[in-house]
Amino acid sequence: MDTLKFAESFFGKYGNRDIRPVLFFSPGRVNLIGEHTDYNGGFVFPCALNFGTYLLIRQTNNDILRFSTINFTDDAEVKIEGMFTNQGKRWINYPLGVINEFLKRGVKISGLEMLYYGDVPNGAGLSSSASIEMVTAVALNEFFAAGLSTLDLVKMSQSAENKFVGMNCGIMDQFAVGFGRTDNAIFLNCDTLQYENVPIRLGESTLIITNTNKRRGLTDSKYNERRSECEKAVELLQPLRPVKNLSEIQISEIPLLPQYIKDEVVLRRAKHVITENGRVLEAVKVLKNNNLVRFGELMNQSHDSLKDDYEVTGKELDTLVYEGRKLPGVIGTRMTGAGFGGCTVSIVRKNDSANFMKILAENYKNITGLVPEFYQPEIGNGAGRLEY
Ligand code: GLA
Repeated sequence: MDTLKFAESFFGKYGNRDIRPVLFFSPGRVNLIGEHTDYNGGFVFPCALNFGTYLLIRQTNNDILRFSTINFTDDAEVKIEGMFTNQGKRWINYPLGVINEFLKRGVKISGLEMLYYGDVPNGAGLSSSASIEMVTAVALNEFFAAGLSTLDLVKMSQSAENKFVGMNCGIMDQFAVGFGRTDNAIFLNCDTLQYENVPIRLGESTLIITNTNKRRGLTDSKYNERRSECEKAVELLQPLRPVKNLSEIQISEIPLLPQYIKDEVVLRRAKHVITENGRVLEAVKVLKNNNLVRFGELMNQSHDSLKDDYEVTGKELDTLVYEGRKLPGVIGTRMTGAGFGGCTVSIVRKNDSANFMKILAENYKNITGLVPEFYQPEIGNGAGRLEY
């Protein structure tokens, strides 16, 4: 990221070189294990990436919010006069939803000039939206001296996504991009929001993210469908125990479930969530003991469960994962994020990584006709101000 060039673009857009804008950054995230557990009060294990969304921002003395992005041409100017409403299919819904959350809390907002730049691929399941939300939230918190905690900002960003954008996500993405720490993953209990930073020491291995480059299709509607299937399971399990979410059910109780859940599909959804929680707990434990091989096995099992029981993978993700597993040096590989498209995350021995990317790209293209993209990210810090 060339910040001086970015600042030049800001001045090109908004003029007045006398007042220097302030720079903020929020990462994207990749989830190592613990998928579709967050909205079930379960465990997740994501980490922040070293790519994300940059925001240059400056206050004005009027009541206009001006938005622009380097990524595409869709500038906007909105007057501050009460709460904002959804702007249709436009990217400014992400920042506007967050600004609304500040207004709801009685924070007084005045005019701003904002220029965004994101290097998280859009719609790839690496949380480009949480990244835009959190970069806006940390910037406004500082600019208007709102004094909100990181956890407040995380919850406000999630609320913006749920209520303003209309995507009913859990808390994992906003939490990961808010609380990320360099070289650590976040072991988060999504019920209590207690978390622990766990160092990721991959030694002779490395993280590789592979983008299916499948166009985003039904992800949101399928996501909401899975959420309601889980709610259905919780409802059906009430006679067993008055549980408030699926994560209160233990693995040892799985044999009891068919007594209560007759619908075979709902049963498999519940089974995924319960077993996935178990896998996260074990994954964190083995990682602390430097047992990367077992960590990789658990990643593989996670994918299999997301494919067979939760049914959120699809041809593209499965091709990357099952073709990937055939290649030398692959410790573990699975889909990451909501699924249906988006990315896989793999741990691969460094010496085999070039071969992995080359052969996997060929095989994936032969089978799906699509060209994948590879990223070798570093694990970075959460959202905050950058000096430049
Ligand atoms: C998306 C959502 C998250 C989480 C994952 C699946 O990324 O935004 O809240 O539910 O899917 O684990």
